[in-house]
Amino acid sequence: MRVRIGLLGYGNVGAPLAALIERTRPEIARRTGVDLEVHRVAVRDLDKTRSVPIPSGLGTTDAMGLCSGEEVDLVVEVMGAVDPAHDLLAAALSSGKPVVTANKELMATHGHDLLAAADEAGVDLLFEAAVGGGIPFIRPLRESLMGERIRRVMGIVNGTTNYILDQMTSHGTSYADALAEAQRLGYAEPDPTADVEGHDSAAKAAIIASIAFGAAVTAADVHCEGISGITADDITDAARLGFVVKLLAITEPTDTGIGVRVHPAMVPIDHPLASVHDSFNAVFVEGESVGDLMFYGRGAGSGPTSSALLGDIIDAAVNLSKGAHASVGTLNAVDITPIDEVIGAHSIQIRVDDRPGVLAEVAGAFGAHNVSIRSMEQEGMGSDARLVFITHEAREADVRATLDDLRRLDSVTRIGSVLRVIGSEE
Ligand SMILES: NC(=O)c1ccc[n+]([C@@H]2O[C@H](COP(=O)([O-])OP(=O)(O)OC[C@H]3O[C@@H](n4cnc5c(N)ncnc54)[C@H](OP(=O)(O)O)[C@@H]3O)[C@@H](O)[C@H]2O)c1
Repeated sequence: MRVRIGLLGYGNVGAPLAALIERTRPEIARRTGVDLEVHRVAVRDLDKTRSVPIPSGLGTTDAMGLCSGEEVDLVVEVMGAVDPAHDLLAAALSSGKPVVTANKELMATHGHDLLAAADEAGVDLLFEAAVGGGIPFIRPLRESLMGERIRRVMGIVNGTTNYILDQMTSHGTSYADALAEAQRLGYAEPDPTADVEGHDSAAKAAIIASIAFGAAVTAADVHCEGISGITADDITDAARLGFVVKLLAITEPTDTGIGVRVHPAMVPIDHPLASVHDSFNAVFVEGESVGDLMFYGRGAGSGPTSSALLGDIIDAAVNLSKGAHASVGTLNAVDITPIDEVIGAHSIQIRVDDRPGVLAEVAGAFGAHNVSIRSMEQEGMGSDARLVFITHEAREADVRATLDDLRRLDSVTRIGSVLRVIGSEE
């Protein structure tokens, strides 16, 4: 069966994807019985000079015509942004066309309604490339692990921030120098805000939470902190205690709903996520029956992203040829646990006067808020004395109240870095 593809976008991902489809077309047809043909390519500007020209006769600027008309059988969206992609994909689905997209921003804001529209139309909406680039992770979560009770998912889902933190860890580089190097290598945008402030990871966290827990989670639900405040001292201090600092997207069930958040965290050096270097991504899944799993690979780039898109395109085309479609099931409304109620361990550094009774005062501040101390180290003497505490798991609100009390103590001269700690209780 021939499946005519309407490609929305011919940029960094769209152009190599079209070439990949063309290159692999005979092999895919032989193995699956579907003949994938890039039939039309919609872009903003047909007169633009392109390093890879749009094949003759395929270009159009009428993206809506492609999505709502009869000219193509399947729509692949690689144009990015929420608008007009949302209207276009809604039109494609309601006119019975399966859709494959790499658009995390769109899926993190409108995934819920688009997935419902796909279910209603009885067609696929597949989005493997939206999280983790080439890492096949959404499909295993959606299919293989559908029956698994997921205890927690933790992901390093932004290659730029992982590169920056890895440079700081491996070479003692400052944040500013590591960011400049990431920009020089093309890993970071000239305006790096979306990456370094965690917004890109938050969109991906929302998608992961939706699929892991069958919940309607959007990027706005995700508590988000980035890495721009991480210092070289934070990194070396973490290393001295046996940890590395990573930017994590974390989602887990709680007593009242689900928690979903992005923030830097100290990860034990022997945890699999600690060995994710450079700009690589990884998603670590903790399941009740299956135990721990980790998915690892290139989280972006035109090759890995095209590979993930092609896998989805084949899946959708084969399903179309059989009149079938995959489903993520119903995404139910869910209570998002506020960050104050999230339970976790923290590392807290403070500078104190080195005199008798100080330790008891400081310990009293922790005790007053039921934050128990797992370990404490003193470094330096006299006015240089520094205490490094690692707490047991405690409510975030209680840790914050402890910090407020510590700030009020005369003997505490400075609160240094405060970082969440992952995996210290296991
Ligand atoms: N780059 C990656 O490594 C990567 C990885 C994972 C996911 N993604 C996702 O893949 C998508 C595409 O990324 P990209 O890097 O390929 O973007 P890009 O290079 O900026 O290309 C965007 C393409 O979409 C077209 N386009 C934009 N707005 C349009 C509109 N309103 N109507 C018609 N065409 C329009 C552009 O047309 P013109 O060519 O005429 O300007 C261009 O061809 C994004 O959702 C991104 O988040 C990218």
